[in-house]
This record gives sequence, C-alpha cells and structure tokens, in this order.
Amino acid sequence: MDRVIKFILSFALAANLFATAAFAETTQEVVNKAPNGLALTPPLGWTSWNKFACNVSEATVRATADAMVSSGMRDAGYKYVVIDDCWQGPRDGNGFITADSQKFPSGIKALADYVHSRGLSFGIYSDAGRLTCGGRPASEGHEYQDALTYARWGVDYLKYDWCNTGDRNAQEAYAVMADALRASGRDIVFSMCEWGTAKPWLWAKNTGNLWRTTGDIFDSFNKQDDAHKSWAHTVTEIVDLNESLWPYAGPGHWNDADMLEVGNGGMSPSEYRSHFSLWAMMAAPLMAGNDIAHMDETTRSILLNKEVIAVDQDPLGLQGRRVWKEADKEVWVKTLSGGARALLLFNRGDAPATIRATSDQLGWPAGVRAKIRDLWAHKDAGRWSGSIEATVEPHGVTMYRITP
Ligand code: GLA
Repeated sequence: MDRVIKFILSFALAANLFATAAFAETTQEVVNKAPNGLALTPPLGWTSWNKFACNVSEATVRATADAMVSSGMRDAGYKYVVIDDCWQGPRDGNGFITADSQKFPSGIKALADYVHSRGLSFGIYSDAGRLTCGGRPASEGHEYQDALTYARWGVDYLKYDWCNTGDRNAQEAYAVMADALRASGRDIVFSMCEWGTAKPWLWAKNTGNLWRTTGDIFDSFNKQDDAHKSWAHTVTEIVDLNESLWPYAGPGHWNDADMLEVGNGGMSPSEYRSHFSLWAMMAAPLMAGNDIAHMDETTRSILLNKEVIAVDQDPLGLQGRRVWKEADKEVWVKTLSGGARALLLFNRGDAPATIRATSDQLGWPAGVRAKIRDLWAHKDAGRWSGSIEATVEPHGVTMYRITP
C-alpha cells in the first residue's frame, strides 16, 4: 500500500513539474512570438485625438470616414480610421467593455461596419492599466475579453496606451495584449503607446507593429512652453528624439513619432510641410490628426502629397537619418528600394539658408548618374552632378527623390 501511495505521489509530482515546465515554455513563447505579418509599411490613416480629444463621437468618425473618401485621402493610401481615448462606457455585468452610449449611440460594431463600407479600416484605443489616460475603463485583467470584443466588432487596429499602469512591467503587459490579439483570430495592427519609457525599440519588434518613442506631440514647430514642457513635445524635439532610433525600424515594426498636427492651426504651411516631410523621411506612421471634413486646400495639398507619401511608404522600410548638420542646416537621406534616395534639405533657422548635399552623403561615388525630382514643387529638377544646392525657406525643407 505504502508503495502505491509513493508511486501516486511521485507521479503527481512529475505531472506537476511537467505542467510547470510546459507553462514556462508557453510564457516564453508569448514573449517571443513571430511577427504578425501586418503593417509592412508604416500605417497611414487618421486618429481622433489631436483635434477632438475627448469630444470624439460617432458623428465625427462617420464624417471623417466620408471626408477621407471625398478628399482623395483614401485613394492616396490613408487606410485606418482610429478612435483614440474616450469612446468607452462601463463594463457590463460579465465584464465586457461597452461604448459610451451618449457619444456612440449606434455602438462600435455599427461604426466599424460603416468605416469598412467606405473602403477603410477601423481602429480603436485602450490602455494597459486599470483606467485610460482619459479615465475610462482600460484593459488590465480584461485583455483576452477585450481582444475578443474588438474582433467581434471588426477592429483592425489597436492603440494601447500606458497610463495608470503602476509598477506593471511594459514588456509583460504588451506581450499579454499582443497574445490576446493573436488569440482573437482577427488581424489587428498593434500600436504600442508606451512613450519610449522602457525603450520598446529594444524588445518589441515581434510584439507591436509600431511603438511611440516620445511623449505627446503638440501643435508647435519649435516653441516649447510652460503648459507643455513636462509632457508634450514640439516637432523639432520629437525629430531629435526619434532620429537616432533609425536602426530599429523596418517592415512590421516602426518607430512612432506620434500623430500628425498638420492642419490644426499652430504652425505655418512651411512648418507643416517640414513636419510631414520629416515624418516621411523617418518612415514614421502618418496618422493625420486634423478635422478632415473641414480642412483647407493648403492642408489638403500637404496630406495628399503622394510623392512624399511614397517616400514614407517605400517597401524597403528603412528609416532615414540625418547625415550632416551645421547650426540650423541639416541634410537627411533615406535609402529607397531600387537604389534611389530621398534627400531632405532642412532649415531650422529663422532666415532663408543655402544648403548643399553631396554624393558621399547619399553613399554614392562622385560620378553616379541619376535624375532628380523635387517632391514639393512636383517638378523634375535635372540630373545629379555630384552635389545639389538649394536655398531653403525658414523652418522649411526642400525634398528630392534621386533615382539612378
Ligand atoms: C496619452 C497618449 C496620447 C493620447 C492620450 C489619450 O497621452 O500618449 O496619444 O492617446 O493619452 O488620453
């Protein structure tokens, strides 16, 4: 009898050890998942936050989807219509998230169906803590239930924020939601919004498709102020924080320099052209953040510059970088597929500046033969002759595609 008990005990112990080993392996697998195969070029779309913040509603999202079609943005490649924070209502009696019934009376499924019917994809927002940054219910402890809900609603993109996470470990928290999204059975782009605090570029390549590298953008080119300085950044501050991360970007995993401010009124047209061009050079997601249904012609001409969008969307997926700098003058290069180069002459200064770029900055021998296209003038600009020089407006850019 004794021997039988001993046998049963040792069998139970072995089974327990086996189960523990199997569980440990599973946990490791969650962290080391293969890429999900999505966002092979940086996401292009619109997000509600920069313009509408917590005033977002069903009516706004529908009007935006309509305007993305009528303005030509959809046909230029803008794809995702994303509701940021403040769409959530309470959890129901079974713990499932519901929509704010005042702002979204038809519910999220109906809205996703509408966005899909316009030939666009639909995105939503949550957070890895108990509450979102706007104080709505977030996903901690409800990850699989929320991912399942999003899949049922037809969500194609999730932005996942980092407020109210206490001492939670970012790598663990984002791996859990990444796994929940996979388990949902739907293809959902995973946009991590952890602000760069835990350096996600070092570990999140197979966890998220994009990760924010900084705190929030605000609608200023280079003027920081007391109201924003603890948390929000100007365009030039973000550029300086994001630039050095170029080695970590590639198809399926992008450095997210935050949503665009183009058209929100705080910058001049030349500053907005610089903002848009720099994001394209950095292969950053281009998520418009303005009121698409009421944008003016200047805003439209910037967001719809297909030649600049093509630099951002180049299938090689290399993030461009600054190759030369002297005071306020900078030269940026992005290597494109087929051996072409995008070249940006950037003048941060308050006066016009003449900026020159050379073959060696492009990584080419001096005698290389190539044709030059000016991407803001929309004109061919002759042939490459070892260097190029332009007078660039204050806070402005001149941007070329140079094709051998
Ligand atoms: C954080 C994010 C922003 C936005 C807000 C919403 O600040 O970084 O991009 O999503 O929360 O509350």
